[in-house]
Amino acid sequence: MTEVVAALDQGTTSTRLVLFDREGAPVASAQKEHRQICPRPGLVEHDPTEILAATDAVMREARAKAGVEAAGIAALGITNQRETTVFWNRRTGAPYGNAIVWQDTRTAALCDRIREGGEAERIVEATGLPIATYFSAPKMAWALEHVDGLAAAAARGEAVAGTIDAWLVWNLTGGPDGGRLVTDVTNASRTQLLGLRSLAWEDDLLAAFDVPRGMLPEVVSSTDASAYGSTRADGAFGGEVRIAGVLGDQQAALAGQLGVREGDAKNTYGTGCFLLQNTGAEIVRSRHGLLTTVAARFGDGPATYALEGSVAIAGALVQWLRDNLGLIAAAPEVEALARTVDDNGGVHIVPAFSGLFAPHWRSDARGVIVGLTRHAHKGHLARAALEAVAWQTRELVDAMRNDSGRTLDALRVDGGMVANDLLMQLQADVLGVPVRRPAVLETTALGAAFAAGAAVGFSPPLDERRDRTTVAREWTPTLDPDERERRYADWKRAVERSLGWAAS
Ligand SMILES: Nc1ncnc2c1ncn2[C@@H]1O[C@H](COP(=O)(O)OP(=O)(O)OP(=O)(O)O)[C@@H](O)[C@H]1O
Ligand SMILES: [Mg+2]
Repeated sequence: MTEVVAALDQGTTSTRLVLFDREGAPVASAQKEHRQICPRPGLVEHDPTEILAATDAVMREARAKAGVEAAGIAALGITNQRETTVFWNRRTGAPYGNAIVWQDTRTAALCDRIREGGEAERIVEATGLPIATYFSAPKMAWALEHVDGLAAAAARGEAVAGTIDAWLVWNLTGGPDGGRLVTDVTNASRTQLLGLRSLAWEDDLLAAFDVPRGMLPEVVSSTDASAYGSTRADGAFGGEVRIAGVLGDQQAALAGQLGVREGDAKNTYGTGCFLLQNTGAEIVRSRHGLLTTVAARFGDGPATYALEGSVAIAGALVQWLRDNLGLIAAAPEVEALARTVDDNGGVHIVPAFSGLFAPHWRSDARGVIVGLTRHAHKGHLARAALEAVAWQTRELVDAMRNDSGRTLDALRVDGGMVANDLLMQLQADVLGVPVRRPAVLETTALGAAFAAGAAVGFSPPLDERRDRTTVAREWTPTLDPDERERRYADWKRAVERSLGWAAS
């Protein structure tokens, strides 16, 4: 008897397996962090075998906690950090070096060259993405040039370049022993090699980045009852479980918030911060620094699209206060520290650790702390860190309004950082609209579970669930609008100071 649906959430900082019941309530979960490998400024890597080991561990642990057999798991949904690119040999399964993470800026010079070349406008038009270090194609181009043996293996037809979803699916379904070499269309839309309209790898995009088509997995729908295959019988689930749905993490969070209709929007606060608004079947072009992405494609249905504002550093700034400065011992402590002061004391932090993403797209920006005086202490830094997340979101919301002409009446939020009540109040204050938090904060995993469960008929289609969404808590704005705009002007001045710091 099937009892649960499994969601594997392979994030930037950790890997989680959550088992949900038919109603979408979590039954059991397990989580494991992996190393952030930063050998030099600008470089961010993950070890693909460490990610596989973490995946194996959380699958075993969660299943054991819930006490279910493989036969009791209706389907597996997978969601993952996007853009991060893995290179491996399909004959042996061995990776070529570390995965290049989405935050890595080693391709800045390469991106400058492409941005200044004749192809740039066409690439942006076809893919919906600006030319930036963020996306997979420049990472692939860099690796083909610099990673030992990769180009030769590609020429022999043995090398694969794939996003994390492809790496996981291939390994879970058998690896060199018959693994499925496929990638979901939402992940593919983050490579900058996929045409938004054609939903296929396009020759001139491949040519622009010099990526051989033969290295890439086959693009399939986000849900598909057969394309993804099943977990190996001798794998971590101890039996075959059908992989029925795969979505990039932000698209999964949109699905987890049941943002399946045109106009639905959510903001997720994890490592970074990602605001997505569903634009239905329409491909909306941004004129204000957002990007256009595939929201989902369920089965044989039409693709739906989204406008997205991506901020690279949100929760990662809190981790930086913890790990690099030692101001706190655990992320949640930042709230108490920030509450030791009434305001930021004039201090602003612009966390441009990987340059600035939306709406600025400046790879030459670097982090700055401004406004320091003898008065400033660690409480002000903690407060400035939370405010930085709120102001970056304000920039996204403004861009979204300018692009869509639609004013947000409230913001739906999720992700690990929204456990922070002070941040939620600050967010409502800087936006001037209510902020709404759902009961289940694990919306990324939930979206993957909804998608996979629906694909195998275990749970209802997402749009049938939509009207049952609940808001667990709401924050309303308390800040005077004039004061709010004055502080926004200060934030913008701080952002100015970060621009152009790194000469690429
Ligand atoms: N109470 C809190 N206050 C502020 N930040 C917090 C709090 N709890 C967690 N965080 C931050 O939230 C992030 C974790 O959120 P979440 O679990 O959604 O991220 P994640 O899914 O691991 O991110 P990713 O998928 O990008 O790896 C961490 O960066 C952490 O610093
Ligand atoms: Mg996440």
